[in-house]
Amino acid sequence: MNEELTMDRIVNLCRNRGFIFPGSEIYGGLANTWDYGPLGARLKNNVKEAWRRRFIQERHNSFEVDADILMNPRVWEASGHVGSFSDPLLDCRSCKMRFRADNLIDEFDPEAHADAMTKEQMFDYIKAHHIPCPNCGKHDFTDIREFNLMFQTFRGVTNDAKSVIYLRPENAQGEYVNYLNVMRSMRAKVPFSIGQIGKAFRNEITPGNFTFRTIEFEQMEFQTFCKPGDDIEHYEYFKNYGRQFFEDLGLAADHLRFHDHEKLAHYAKAACDIEYLFPSIGWGEINGTHDRTDFDLSRHQEYSGENMSYLDPYTNERYIPYIVESTYGLDRTVLALLCEAYDEEVIDEAKNDVRVVLHLKPAMAPIKASVLPLSKKLGAKAMEIRDELAKHFMVDYDDAGSIGKRYRRADEIGTPFCVTYDFDSETDGCVTVRDRDSMEQVRIPVAELRSYIEKSLQF
Ligand code: GAP
Repeated sequence: MNEELTMDRIVNLCRNRGFIFPGSEIYGGLANTWDYGPLGARLKNNVKEAWRRRFIQERHNSFEVDADILMNPRVWEASGHVGSFSDPLLDCRSCKMRFRADNLIDEFDPEAHADAMTKEQMFDYIKAHHIPCPNCGKHDFTDIREFNLMFQTFRGVTNDAKSVIYLRPENAQGEYVNYLNVMRSMRAKVPFSIGQIGKAFRNEITPGNFTFRTIEFEQMEFQTFCKPGDDIEHYEYFKNYGRQFFEDLGLAADHLRFHDHEKLAHYAKAACDIEYLFPSIGWGEINGTHDRTDFDLSRHQEYSGENMSYLDPYTNERYIPYIVESTYGLDRTVLALLCEAYDEEVIDEAKNDVRVVLHLKPAMAPIKASVLPLSKKLGAKAMEIRDELAKHFMVDYDDAGSIGKRYRRADEIGTPFCVTYDFDSETDGCVTVRDRDSMEQVRIPVAELRSYIEKSLQF
C-alpha cells in the first residue's frame, strides 16, 4: 500500500473500473449502501472461496450451512438482540443531526476508550470536554438513548406487533439454531465447527467510510462448539488462525494488529478484534473472535424448550458446549485487500508517467489473464486462446488501443498476466506473457500457458 493513499482514490478506482458502485445511484443513492460491479463481485467471490477452503474444506469436522435471513423472532429475544443490541445515540438540538456518543468521544480523543464507558460516563465526558457537534460546532446535545440496530419488517397482511420479524443482524444465530441438526445429521463430535457466509443488516446511522460500515453487509462466521474449559485454547488458536488467514489473502503483517476488548458484548467472556490499518480511516476491525461460553445454547434451550446438551460418547459426560466464534466482515476484507494492493508507480518522472496497479495476489485477482492480439488481424486465433483458458479461470480479451495502454488497463484492475499473441505466434506457437508486478516478459508455448498461469493461482 502506498502510505500516502487516501480512500477517495480507492473509491474512484472502484467506481470507474467496475468494482463497487454507489447503491441505487440513478435515484441519488441510499446512504451507506454500495453495489458490487462485475470485478467487485469476482473479488468478493474469490475471498469467499479462500475462506471456504481454509475454514471448511481444510478443517476436519467443519460444516457449512446456509440458513435463512428471516428467523423466528424468538431467536432474537433468546440471543439478547431485542433487549440489548443498540447504539448509544444523541441528537444535536441545534442542527438536529444524530450521532453515536462513543464515536464523538473517539474522534475527540482516540485514547479515551469510549468502548469501556457506560452511557452515563459517556454523557459526562462529552459535557466535561465540551465536545462540539461535528456538523454545526455547537455544544447542545440531548441525553444519550439506546437505539436498537435491528431492521424490522412485518409478515402477513396486517402491520400489528404480532407479525414483526427482523432482518438478521448477524449470521451466528443461523448456526446456533442448527447446532442440533448438524450434530445429528453429520454425526459430529465436539469439538466441531459450523460456518456460514451470508448477509446481515444493521440500522447504522454513522457515516460509513465507503464499504467499511454499511447497513447491509456480508459476514463469514465460524462457530466452534467445544468442551467447557477448552474454550480459551480455541479462542487463542482462532485469533492466530484468523491473522494468518488475512496474511495469506495478501494483507501486510504490519498493517494488522490485535485489539483486545475491555468492554464486552452481552454474550462474551473474552473478545479480540483483528484490525487493519485503512487509509483515511485508520485502524478498523475486520474480524472479531469471541469466547461466547454457553450463553447462546443455554438461552436457546431456555427459549425453545429443546435440550441443547451434548453427551460425550467416550466419557458419558453431559454438558452444554461453549462456543468460540471467529467472524469475518467480507466487505471490510475486500476493502482492505483493495487498499493493500493499490499502488501508483512512477515509471518515468520526466514524462509524468505513473501507472496505477493493483498488486492483488493472483488467487484474489478478479481476472487472471488478459489476452491481447497484437493486431486485429490476429483476433480469431487470440480469441481461441481466450476461450480455451476461460474454461479454467476468468480471462479477459482486449484488442482496443496500443499494447501499452492495454497493459495499463490490466494493471489497474490487478490482472496478473497479459498474454500477447503476435505475428510470430502464427509460426512458433508461442505467446508473450507479461507479469503485472515485475513487468517482465517471457515467451511461452501456447500449450503450456494454462499450467503456467494456474501455478500462481494456488491459495
Ligand atoms: N456474530 C458476531 C458479530 O456479528 P460483529 O463484530 O458485530 O460480531 C462481525 O461483526 C464482523 O462483521 C465485523 O468484524 C465486521 O468486519 C463486520 N461488520 C459489522 N458491522 C458491519 C457494518 N455495518 N458494515 C460492514 N461490516 C460490518
